[in-house]
Amino acid sequence: MDDDVRYLASIEAFDYPDGTRALTRVNLAIRRGEWAAILGSNGSGKTTLLRILDGLLKDYAGSVLLDGTDVRKLSPRQIYSKVGLVFQNPDDQLFAPTVFEDVAFGPRNMGCSEEESGKRVAQALELVDMQHAALKAIGALSFGQKKRICIAGLLAMGHEILLLDEPTAGLDPMGEYRMMHLLQRLNREKGVTIVMATHSVDLVPIFIDSLYILSRGRIARGGTPEEVFTAPDEMAAVKLRLPHIAELIHRLKHEDQVQFGRIPLTVGEARREIIKMLELEGKKQ
Ligand SMILES: Nc1ncnc2c1ncn2[C@@H]1O[C@H](COP(=O)(O)OP(=O)(O)O)[C@@H](O)[C@H]1O
Ligand SMILES: [Mg+2]
Repeated sequence: MDDDVRYLASIEAFDYPDGTRALTRVNLAIRRGEWAAILGSNGSGKTTLLRILDGLLKDYAGSVLLDGTDVRKLSPRQIYSKVGLVFQNPDDQLFAPTVFEDVAFGPRNMGCSEEESGKRVAQALELVDMQHAALKAIGALSFGQKKRICIAGLLAMGHEILLLDEPTAGLDPMGEYRMMHLLQRLNREKGVTIVMATHSVDLVPIFIDSLYILSRGRIARGGTPEEVFTAPDEMAAVKLRLPHIAELIHRLKHEDQVQFGRIPLTVGEARREIIKMLELEGKKQ
């Protein structure tokens, strides 16, 4: 097996006990150091998929390999030594009275000494830019700060793979960018492999390497943002839309016959394409 593939999932079907079919024929491969997004509207199966990857749901047909071993054959301890899942709602994850106690729980539970645990907490809080808040009560934190403390709790355990369930949901626009920049740092500087469920189509092309579109429990498309964000009608069919920039350029190209070569997905790319076009126009005159 390719050493660089950390997760190799081939899920035939997953049904909840009440008979709801949540996933059908989901195949995906997550490579070492990759930042992948699972993009889908509400109810498309994102949380179910993350819970399967984390070994919490086991009753499915198919297989999910983590570094070549079926996750159903791994003990929780073996899974949690590599993988951490950040819940969508931080209040479901945080339970200690203070930030320090919460972040220290993981390392202490792993058998780290008090000194080692303290060191890990300090490093993790620094990574999420919350070093000033170690003694704060959890209840006194903002929603975005709570989300960052959840991530710190996993970082303190040294997870190489983070599964994040809608990490930007509920944050204000600045909070969204801060969260994405934090994840970018963890991914680029610390080499953390990230699989993130989201429906933020505008953030995905700026940051993410690859994405899978999940629609009614099936992977409708997969690839780089350029490969996946193609036509507005295809996105509407899976109850999503194109990034705003792509939508604008798509309409200029197809409704106003403005000659764009490729469809830019971000403000930066669109700016470069438009400047190039204006320069060409200038040369013609
Ligand atoms: N505990 C459960 N019991 C029965 N059905 C569930 C349960 N959790 C989720 N589902 C159903 O599974 C489907 C996928 O849900 P979910 O994975 O939570 O989607 P998403 O995270 O994309 O919003 C939905 O139809 C949802 O109603
Ligand atoms: Mg969900």
